[in-house]
Amino acid sequence: MTSEQNARVPAPAGKATSAPVMGRDGEATIFEYSSPGRKAWSFRSTGLPEWEASVLVAPGLLRGEPVELVEVPERDLVAHVTRLTHRQYSVDLGAYPLGSCTMKYNPKLCDDAASLPGLANVHPATPASHCQGWLELLWSLSNALCEVTGMKAATLAPPAGAAGELTGLLLMRAWHDSQGESRTKVIIPDSAHGTNPASVTLGGYETVTIPSDDRGLVDMTALRNRLDRDVAGIMLTNPNTLGLFEEDIAEIAAAAHDVGALLYYDGANLNAILGVTRPGDMGFDIVHMNLHKTFAVPHGGGGPGAGPVAVSARLEDFLPGPIAQRGDDGTFTWVEPARSIGRVHSWYGNALALARAWSYILANGGDGLRRVAEGAVLNSNWLKSRLRGTYDIPYDRPAMHEFVASTSTLKKRTGLRALDVAKRMLEEGFHAPTVYFPLIVEEALMIEPTETESVETLEALAEALINIAGEEAGEAVHAPRSTPVGRVDEALAARRLQATWDAVRQPS
Ligand SMILES: Cc1ncc(COP(=O)(O)O)c(C=O)c1O
Repeated sequence: MTSEQNARVPAPAGKATSAPVMGRDGEATIFEYSSPGRKAWSFRSTGLPEWEASVLVAPGLLRGEPVELVEVPERDLVAHVTRLTHRQYSVDLGAYPLGSCTMKYNPKLCDDAASLPGLANVHPATPASHCQGWLELLWSLSNALCEVTGMKAATLAPPAGAAGELTGLLLMRAWHDSQGESRTKVIIPDSAHGTNPASVTLGGYETVTIPSDDRGLVDMTALRNRLDRDVAGIMLTNPNTLGLFEEDIAEIAAAAHDVGALLYYDGANLNAILGVTRPGDMGFDIVHMNLHKTFAVPHGGGGPGAGPVAVSARLEDFLPGPIAQRGDDGTFTWVEPARSIGRVHSWYGNALALARAWSYILANGGDGLRRVAEGAVLNSNWLKSRLRGTYDIPYDRPAMHEFVASTSTLKKRTGLRALDVAKRMLEEGFHAPTVYFPLIVEEALMIEPTETESVETLEALAEALINIAGEEAGEAVHAPRSTPVGRVDEALAARRLQATWDAVRQPS
């Protein structure tokens, strides 16, 4: 070894150092590898008689033409998927400080647990008496989530955060109906995640938006002015999407309850509060959680996730079923709550996502979960302090698991926009932070380092962000240059979406 090699300092583990394989060559779609007669399967003959589809399927339901399926051998399929994998950035490769989305590293232990044959190979129609272990797992997970949130009962069925929100709003409606009231409005702050107003609309309510004040918190005067007996509930994220703890939460809860409204907690991300404080203790009535953010369920690309909803005692009877329950003799059964709003997902939700979350909770234990929160908050404050002075920190109060910086001043001085910083970060071996959210911060960079990154990785992240801010603005405008895909025209892509192979083959 040369002395130069000896002196080589390894890059921090959270920084991706290997360039994605073979530069910019596009990877063909799997359809383009297809060739008639090639296949990735072989079935042994069972010796059983064969049936014509027309004997088994009603004529009206039969296809006129065979469906055009991809025909590739396993070898080519694996090579294609592996090449795509190498062109991807992932939580397994490096840091992913995508604020609000919480892309933390997911321990492999949780994958192993969810792959146990006794969990993975059970059909959801299996009678409860034959899958008592599964019911016990779901019952235990539900109890643990109630403990973490300070709630009385939970449904594990919703398959995503937004699905949890809709479930929560339907519960809100069911509650007011049971009180003989038909309220029409739900209040949300202007810092809210976009799914909140969308869920309010889907739930049949009108959104009333209230501003944030100079502290970046709910403007109490505005809230009081909008609260009346037509308000069904207030939806809040705490810490909010600026990464700030809503200090007036007890007062907000009292004001909501005074007019008979319910308080809804968007607990997509519990990373800052696990084992430290609980929505139930703050006065919330309904909580949804994204297990795919806080509890080690991988996400991105649309799931599958899990968005359980936990509620206070007065809402328990309205929960969607079925819910695993333990009888006095220790056996488990499915129950449907007395005044259930009905099913919100087939079967019991995304069961293997739930199994992963349960293994994460067991592996950490109560004290470990608290350490997760402490680590997330420490890392976020550490990184924020390193960036202060280089980037604007618009609401510079103690951060929770994430914080919002801005390139507003840099943009005025050098033209550097949040988007440019995000694209340059890809060249530096990191995933980009969230940009332009929350909407109330100009040129926002929403940064969530998560508790899973080491201090060396945080330092490398800080260094990359600081260096980018010091470059000529022109540098960043053409980034990323070393990734398989360069800067795309996002507005055009959104307007002329071509999401299917047919559209690519026959462009309109
Ligand atoms: C604060 C907040 N609420 C709700 C959601 C919606 O969750 P999902 O994407 O699982 O539907 C998210 C997801 O990013 C979020 O960050």
